[in-house]
Amino acid sequence: MTGYLDAGVLELAPDRRASMHLVVLERTRVADGVVLLRLAHPDGLPLPAWQPGAHLEFVLPSGLIRHYSLCGDPRDPLSYTVAVLRVADGDGGSREIHDTDLEDLLLEVRGPRNNFALEAATEYLFIAGGIGITPISAMVRELAGSGLPWRLIYGGRSRSSMAFLRELGELGSGAVQIIPQDEQGLPDLAGELGAAAAGTAVYACGPPAMLEVVTELCARRPADLTLRLERFTADPSAAVTGGAAFEVELRRTGIVLPVPADRSLLDVVRDVIRTQPYSCAEGICGTCETDVLDGEPEHHDDVLSDEERASNKTMMLCVSRSKSARLVLDL
Ligand code: FES
Repeated sequence: MTGYLDAGVLELAPDRRASMHLVVLERTRVADGVVLLRLAHPDGLPLPAWQPGAHLEFVLPSGLIRHYSLCGDPRDPLSYTVAVLRVADGDGGSREIHDTDLEDLLLEVRGPRNNFALEAATEYLFIAGGIGITPISAMVRELAGSGLPWRLIYGGRSRSSMAFLRELGELGSGAVQIIPQDEQGLPDLAGELGAAAAGTAVYACGPPAMLEVVTELCARRPADLTLRLERFTADPSAAVTGGAAFEVELRRTGIVLPVPADRSLLDVVRDVIRTQPYSCAEGICGTCETDVLDGEPEHHDDVLSDEERASNKTMMLCVSRSKSARLVLDL
């Protein structure tokens, strides 16, 4: 990324997010209700590198901000690919992408950012539900041919609604199990997770109900699996407000503020720092991540790893709170 910044193409925001305008080269239907967007720099310049699991933040023409996982080839430096499911009863972002003629338009894009990175493991089990295949498709392509053992369980309503079936079939390793619900019912997640070898890294992305089941099944194991989830919506147990009140010290600003039980830390911070970045406000995008200088955060996000949480050095302001009476932030 440094070389790209040196070329003067990107503007690096203070929150470490890169912002750029990319042109939509192509919009293609790849399954029922799913379109694939391919984007590139308007001058054909190389784009910042990314790893499987990464996502981009899009500012849509309406101003809506949405996050979509990269699902193309990380070795292609000239274009990014995302796939978007039309959510008829959603809040409009996917409908805008589906219903607007985006080809040749410039879109503001931030990132890539990776909250779902592949970590070293002896074995991998991927579980994808519906459009949850997008980050996982890049992961399994990365692992195919690596020699590491991996399997993918990919469920969807029907074959016609499931993106990337041909590409996944071409991996040809027998490691991909396609389970259309109208033909085979739901995947046997209890069987799969019960049989997973100790040390397996489980990566799951899909509807909230599926992720709840996966979480519950992994919790029945003797803590011998590593579970990583990628959510499209916030964890219902995430506590944006509520719990004990506490104080926040903004060390660089030189101010101490009370955080009452009925307000989020992000709201309180934005009372005095209007430019404090945020996006999802649900603890799933990582945009509001802030360094912690002192105190013990109470984490409720879906972004940080267990190690990052335990370090007490960083937190998501939008959903997380404090276990200590005062938090000191690097703001
Ligand atoms: S704004 Fe998305 S994690 Fe806080």
